[in-house]
Amino acid sequence: MANIVEARDLALGYWRDKEPVAVLSGLDLYIKRGEFLTLVGPSGVGKSTLLRAIIGLSRPLSGTLDVNAHPNPGGRPSALVFQDPRLMPWRRVLGNVLFGLEALDLSRTERVRRAREALAKVGLADYEKRFPMQLSGGQRQRVGLARALAVQPDLLLMDEPFGALDAITRENLQDQLLDLWRNSGITVIFVTHDIEEAVYLSDRVMLLSGTPAAATSEHRIDLPRPRRRDEDTMTYIGEIKQSLADAFQGA
Ligand SMILES: Nc1ncnc2c1ncn2[C@@H]1O[C@H](COP(=O)(O)OP(=O)(O)OP(=O)(O)O)[C@@H](O)[C@H]1O
Ligand SMILES: [Mg+2]
Repeated sequence: MANIVEARDLALGYWRDKEPVAVLSGLDLYIKRGEFLTLVGPSGVGKSTLLRAIIGLSRPLSGTLDVNAHPNPGGRPSALVFQDPRLMPWRRVLGNVLFGLEALDLSRTERVRRAREALAKVGLADYEKRFPMQLSGGQRQRVGLARALAVQPDLLLMDEPFGALDAITRENLQDQLLDLWRNSGITVIFVTHDIEEAVYLSDRVMLLSGTPAAATSEHRIDLPRPRRRDEDTMTYIGEIKQSLADAFQGA
């Protein structure tokens, strides 16, 4: 199947007094293998709820959700990166990345090899002996990304991963992420509040809105890859931003 995620008439939410409360409903979603999709939408609309369901932490209230991520041997089908990397302060950088691999059936040597490889991918090869408190916010976030990459996921879910970073670090990490994505063939589902970031990174940007929420507008991003921060890109981003802002208002 070409799609790695397929949702049909999906409703997600929670239970209150034994009654289902829908956060999202009537959602149809098809994500192609290798695609970079970004979800945007107002706070509380259900973006994290959707990621949690895709990674298997919650079940649909109704409808269907098929995820066809295939793990590599000794890997995981999917991995989630949070806004706050949630590192363990008492473990060194290498130990934090190893943590994600501990439940997997791998030799210690292979785990260390994988963890080091992931750290090199995010440019932190020389930082493995540091503790989280000895790192900048951007470096900590990269450790979180390395921890996710180390399990070699087929599907990478990222929930506002760069939200807390300064603009320059953020742009650097966006470009690093795009390089990693291009070289690995994985599928990325990204959540952000920053429409510029959404457009710059993605093949497709989807707006969730309403109560309960559904996908209310969608944009295919036709910018060439590799992406550049040039004038054409900025003009294009401006246009999409306007159109999404209008859809936001109308929602
Ligand atoms: N167990 C629960 N009990 C009560 N409300 C819940 C529960 N789980 C989720 N919600 C509600 O579901 C809605 C969607 O939450 P979710 O975290 O998915 O939003 P979000 O789009 O990720 O928002 P943000 O942009 O602020 O991160 C919110 O209104 C939240 O309060
Ligand atoms: Mg959220």
